[in-house]
Amino acid sequence: MSDRISYETLSWESPAGASAVDELRGGRLTLIDQTRLPAEFLRMTCETPEDVWRAIKRLSVRGAPAIGIAAAYGVCLGIQPLFAGADRPTRGELLAAVEKTAAYLATSRPTAVNLFWALDRMKARAAAEKDAAAEEIAAALMTEAKTIHDEDRELCRRIGRHGAGLVKDGDVLLTHCNAGALATADYGTALGVFYAAQEEGKKIRVYADETRPLLQGARLTAWELAVHGIDVTLICDSMAAMLMRQKKIDAVFVGADRIAANGDVANKIGTYGVAVSARAHGVPFYVAAPFSTFDLTLSDGSQIPIEERDPEEIRRGFGRQTAPDGIKIYNPAFDVTPAELISGIVTEKGVIAPVTADEIRRFIQNE
Ligand code: MRU
Repeated sequence: MSDRISYETLSWESPAGASAVDELRGGRLTLIDQTRLPAEFLRMTCETPEDVWRAIKRLSVRGAPAIGIAAAYGVCLGIQPLFAGADRPTRGELLAAVEKTAAYLATSRPTAVNLFWALDRMKARAAAEKDAAAEEIAAALMTEAKTIHDEDRELCRRIGRHGAGLVKDGDVLLTHCNAGALATADYGTALGVFYAAQEEGKKIRVYADETRPLLQGARLTAWELAVHGIDVTLICDSMAAMLMRQKKIDAVFVGADRIAANGDVANKIGTYGVAVSARAHGVPFYVAAPFSTFDLTLSDGSQIPIEERDPEEIRRGFGRQTAPDGIKIYNPAFDVTPAELISGIVTEKGVIAPVTADEIRRFIQNE
């Protein structure tokens, strides 16, 4: 057994003992600024929806579940100014501010469906407070954001426990990008599986792909696993196939940004290549994600919007020029792994396998 350090990826700071609406009035969202890791562990404060939008866009907060939680608190920040003066807003003014803030935050990043799921949940909560005054709706929204946050903490642990059942003592595992505590409220999805296996007393070793171009594997996963006492070895993305060929990997676990109804999975660019290699070498390839990452409105992965990011992330990744000025650069942030390459999807309610549209529907409806 090991003690996990909880370093609160996100937190809502508010005056102690305040009522829900006072919490909203005096509250601020605080985040670990992930762009500074691993060199510096710094927190930043978001006081407006614009601060949250920028934090999401520039990946200060990143990872599908964490983006959703940040956006939910962003809606609270969007209604805060309505309570700053002596006059109370009307119900109509409050609902309009919720809609406007949610529509704005929805433009920050397109791929992780947890962002839209959390914003929809906040809007639905406001709408459900039918005959309530603005102040009561505001309090309900504050509670809802905290519930989304707390639920994520809990369901990551459940994902971890279900996933740990797929891990044997002595296994060597591989992961891509960061689907850990830093990508969620705490604990993580794919990395939550590793933490749970470790807590069960299994000895595991992990290879972390560095994850070009923004190095979430090197900067975040390697840091996070080392902090939690997991034996981690960092590799360049291009080394994973060779390790599988050498039979050095027992299973792959990754997270997800959006899962279509047929089980196709969008995750960090490079995930698809890892899945192809895993299939070619007979290595099980698992995805770990909560139900909030499923988008059953999309029949397959071809409909998932894929974010394209600034070419400068490739030309001058971390300040130093590594490609000629003016050269054409293509920088999609995610790719789609087809369901047939996925051995199972580990959710908070268990493992979905085989990964088919029927099995996903049956699983989600029955639970
Ligand atoms: O661009 P990022 O860093 O937000 O991408 C994150 C990923 O691709 C993660 O693997 C995914 O969001 C799962 S997080 C539990």
